[in-house]
Amino acid sequence: MEREISAHTGMLGLLGHPVGHSVSPYLQNRLAALHGLDLCYLAWDVEAEKLEDALRGARAMGVRGMNVTVPHKQAVRAFLAAEDESAARIGAVNTLKNEPDGWHGYNTDMPGFLDALADDGVELKGRRVVVLGAGGAANAILCGVLASAPEQVLLYNRSADKAEALLGRLSPFYPGVKAAVVRVAEELPAAMEGGADDWIAVQTTSLGMAPHTETKLIADNAFYSRIETGYDIVFNPADTAFMKAVRAAGAGKMSFNGLKMLLYQGIRSFEIWTGASTGRDEARKLLPGMAERIG
Ligand code: ATR
Repeated sequence: MEREISAHTGMLGLLGHPVGHSVSPYLQNRLAALHGLDLCYLAWDVEAEKLEDALRGARAMGVRGMNVTVPHKQAVRAFLAAEDESAARIGAVNTLKNEPDGWHGYNTDMPGFLDALADDGVELKGRRVVVLGAGGAANAILCGVLASAPEQVLLYNRSADKAEALLGRLSPFYPGVKAAVVRVAEELPAAMEGGADDWIAVQTTSLGMAPHTETKLIADNAFYSRIETGYDIVFNPADTAFMKAVRAAGAGKMSFNGLKMLLYQGIRSFEIWTGASTGRDEARKLLPGMAERIG
């Protein structure tokens, strides 16, 4: 059924800078069509100095909801009427909903990450998990990992002090979880020694992203041999150097890229705006179209 934009069409959109490569317009407009909702989602390129104006203007025009991406995910928090608990904990907002008292902020990166793992049949509960990176994306990922009752968590980042600061901020919320920073890359394999080589690794840095597709944070094969399942938040290329290294380290090892996380964070945002939930079978059908529009 063809959708027609009318005088009644509700507005949704993305606030970021730049936004030209975003697949969110594709994803969100497909979700609107799937649920038969009269909504239109656009990408708005807004520089940092204009963020407050954009938020006020969007509210004045009755925009129902927005996604927020780089570089506004932290800055937007200053302009909210309310914020959900996990967004406050993560320190970043990627979803806004227009409510009578102002913009309400949410973070769907964390539940989106956990939805993607669940879709792949991977559970973090009782597992040993190593997280690579301590930048913006690591905040939501580490929060999701800590919240999933893993047996043990290790965090490594090139700048070890950033890793210490991140874990130091988040771990008090999850006192039952054994978590530590590994300050030096060479010490990672030893820190992961003991028991089966069944670690889950999540790669949250931008390394390996096109055009620098050959780069990865850890070179040592001893690290990869300890991993059973690897997740990379990077989705361009679809098969990253990190993902290849995980699979090359032994038979039966699995690796996944970040496209499904992107899909499910978008689905969670759409659900916040509209109340419409999307089943896994319907969700998965959106992946090929997203992949086609990347790169
Ligand atoms: P974002 O918020 O988009 O994730 P960021 O906060 O700059 O961006 O974080 C990028 C992540 O990739 C960090 O973990 C960063 O490591 P540092 O904290 O040491 O900078 C990591 N990263 C980026 N380029 C890197 C490189 N060349 N080598 C190692 N790590 C790198």
